[in-house]
Order: sequence, then C-alpha cells, then structure tokens
Amino acid sequence: MERIVLVTGSNRGIGLATVKELLKKEYKVILTARKEEDGLKAKAKLQKYGEVYFHPLDVADAQSVEQIRQFINDKFGQLDILINNAGINYDTWHTASNANLDEVEETIGTNLMGAWRMAQAFIPLMLKQKFGRIVNVSSGAGALNEMSGSTTPGYSISKAALNGLTIKLAADVRGKNILVNSVCPGWVRTNMGGMAAPRSPQKGAETIIWAAELPNNGPSGKFFRDMKEIKW
Ligand SMILES: NC(=O)c1ccc[n+]([C@@H]2O[C@H](COP(=O)([O-])OP(=O)(O)OC[C@H]3O[C@@H](n4cnc5c(N)ncnc54)[C@H](OP(=O)(O)O)[C@@H]3O)[C@@H](O)[C@H]2O)c1
Repeated sequence: MERIVLVTGSNRGIGLATVKELLKKEYKVILTARKEEDGLKAKAKLQKYGEVYFHPLDVADAQSVEQIRQFINDKFGQLDILINNAGINYDTWHTASNANLDEVEETIGTNLMGAWRMAQAFIPLMLKQKFGRIVNVSSGAGALNEMSGSTTPGYSISKAALNGLTIKLAADVRGKNILVNSVCPGWVRTNMGGMAAPRSPQKGAETIIWAAELPNNGPSGKFFRDMKEIKW
C-alpha cells in the first residue's frame, strides 16, 4: 500500500536527510520549506531517489498550515506519516534569567505550536483512514532529567513542552492506530548542531524513520534515541 509522508523543515539538515532516506524506501514524500526557492532546490537534488513533491510551509503560520492541509487533502486524500522536524533557536547564548522573551515566544511558536498546529491539521485525516504515525523531533536538551545546565532555556523548554504534547496527543488517539512519539536524533552536523557534531544528518534521521515505520501494535507516547526508549 502506498504511504504518504510529510516532513516539516526539510530543505536542509536532518529534515532533508529524512526525506532522502524515505524516498529510497519508496514512500511518496512531501518536502516542505519556508522559502519556495530553498524547497525547489532541495526537491531537485532528491528527485532521483523517488517520488518527491514540494509545498511551501511555515509551521508558525496557521494560514500556511491550512494551505498545505488543503493541498494534501485535494491531491492525495490521505497523510500517513507526519514528521514534525522544523525547529529553531538553540539558544546557547542565553540563560533563563537573561533570555530574550520575545525570542523564547518565537521558539515556542515553532518548536511547540508548529508541531501542535500540524497535528491538529492532520489527525482528522488519520482518524478517517485509521492509520497514522506522528514523529515529533525533540531533543535530549528537552528531557527534564537532562536539563540541569543553565543555557538553551528557550530551546530546552520548548522541547520539554513538545514532549508533553507527544504524551497528550498519544493519549488522545490511543486505540485508533495513530502512534505519536518523540525522538532525539542525537548531536548532528547541521546548521543547528554545528560542524563539530559527531553524527551525519543521515544517522540523525535513523530513529526518526524507525518511529515513522512502527507496526500497528508499536509504542506510542514515548521518547526514543537510537531506537531505544529514553527518559523524559
Ligand atoms: N542538529 C542537532 O544536533 C539536533 C539535536 C537534537 C535535536 N535536533 C532537532 O532536529 C530538528 C532538525 O534540526 P537540524 O539540526 O536539521 O536544524 P537546521 O539545519 O537548522 O534545520 C532546521 C529546519 O527547520 C526549518 N524551519 C525553521 N523554522 C520553521 C518554520 N517556522 N516553519 C517551517 N520550517 C521551519 C528550517 O527552514 P529554513 O531553512 O527556512 O530556516 C530548516 O529547514 C530540529 O527540530 C532540532 O531541534 C537537532
């Protein structure tokens, strides 16, 4: 059966690598980007791997989310896998006491609200088709048990809240064959992770794809790294 996947923030980094690996596995993939030019360039690079579509998407913008919902509804009438990968602002330069709260709001607007908006847009379709996988790309920086350092306050708190969203959504759709999980990709060489990171984007995509391909009786409402459950 043909499966349709959407990856947010997939013009570069882990999102782009995720699209590439999914195409190799013969999924139909919707690559998305805030800037049309970036999205079309990324699509041109990946076209040789399989059936890739591009649609603009800014997850912080409700209208943009509604436009892609309509596009997918009209073109495919289904969305099987949603990968909430878009993320911003690894704010190593701030602590909780001096963080710029406008920036923090913006971070939460993308990292938490963006994923929430996308889930709300597509869960009705997943309920109708009685199948869905939602992967929220989170971070160890958002695990409460790892959150002892003082920096990255906006980022860490946005990812902790994203993990909370994973738990709440999973409970909401339990028993409906929609599995919702958080994944930490590890420390990955991207614009966000920097060039000193030990992992390639392809390696970072591994557990994301594993969570996207969970079987019907698979786990939901959990947090994974390297295909193993980790603590919140
Ligand atoms: N790299 C790491 O070490 C690491 C570790 C743990 C977790 N993560 C998580 O992994 C995910 C991917 O990160 P990455 O390392 O690949 O980062 P990246 O290279 O900075 O890529 C981030 C992507 O998100 C997009 N984006 C940002 N705001 C958006 C919005 N409002 N709407 C739609 N797309 C938006 C960016 O688009 P533009 O090109 O338009 O900016 C870009 O495509 C993030 O959620 C990040 O928090 C990364």
